[in-house]
Amino acid sequence: MPFSPKKFIDSAVLHIRTTVGKEKAIIAVSGGVDSMAAAAIAHLAIPKQLTCVFVDTGLMRKNEAKTVSAAAEKVGISLKVIDASDTFFSSLAGITDPEEKRKAIGRLFIETFEKAAKKEGVSFLIQGTIAPDWIESGGGSRDKIKSHHNVGGLPEKMHLKLCEPMRDLYKHEVRMVARELDLPEEISERQPFPGPGLAVRIVGEITRKKAEIVRGACAIAEEEIEKAAKEGKIEKPWQYFAALLPTKTVGVRGDERAYQYIVVVRAVRSLDGMTVNFSHLPPELLQKISTRITNEIREVGRVLYDITNKPPATVEME
Ligand code: XMP
Repeated sequence: MPFSPKKFIDSAVLHIRTTVGKEKAIIAVSGGVDSMAAAAIAHLAIPKQLTCVFVDTGLMRKNEAKTVSAAAEKVGISLKVIDASDTFFSSLAGITDPEEKRKAIGRLFIETFEKAAKKEGVSFLIQGTIAPDWIESGGGSRDKIKSHHNVGGLPEKMHLKLCEPMRDLYKHEVRMVARELDLPEEISERQPFPGPGLAVRIVGEITRKKAEIVRGACAIAEEEIEKAAKEGKIEKPWQYFAALLPTKTVGVRGDERAYQYIVVVRAVRSLDGMTVNFSHLPPELLQKISTRITNEIREVGRVLYDITNKPPATVEME
């Protein structure tokens, strides 16, 4: 039977109502289509029992708090922005292992939610987890690829009860649901963004400075790729962004030797993120992205393009 977004929304509303009952719930939106769709459904189901938050971890996209608040407002959700960036950066200092990072971020998110939940007298956490998240986190009999922060990254001793109304959906189905919910197009058609945010796009240790660099590089890559797609020069990739490597290489700025960071640009075609093929972006577009990144971000001296499929790579670097 073909997937019916309308029927799905009705059953998800019912599921949330019966799961949460008369208690209160909190949901965190990240700006991605999954959490936004989950928030819109939760808002339909239990508007008076729901608190919606946006946690600014310092690892979100450029201008994200504003973009997300405006989108939420359009569907009647008023968003509380929590600035937790100091806590995130200080707690992540010194961590270089990707799984350790993901687990630490999961813990920090939960601590932030629990703090907010206590204030509001909330006992449920609603999450926009979708099927690939738990499958790749080692769900069923599968091997763990990585702990998606909203699944395997959650601490076992979380005090909040969990409600995940979209667990069985794949990304293209979530987009159908988002369109049915009348979410703004910039959300329903928005490319995926990982729960841990830019943390998985900074290979190795995370610092505030590195977050700024990768945020700027991501914004440039997004802007140029979206512009090229709008002008009909390319088919819009499924996901496209930039990541930062921990090593520096030698270059020249003016007449002087420079020793600067490497940024990796990645753009992929996919249906659900489970397998991807890298996009064959035209050289002129890649050159524009590279020139802008090295001109506008002084700490970056080299830009590479990732030509690896998944498998063997994953979409994100960590
Ligand atoms: P990977 O890197 O696992 O990414 O090939 C597949 C898709 O999932 C996104 N991703 C995440 N989404 N929480 C999420 O909600 C996470 O922890 C997470 N890690 C990766 C990634 O951006 C891609 O779309």
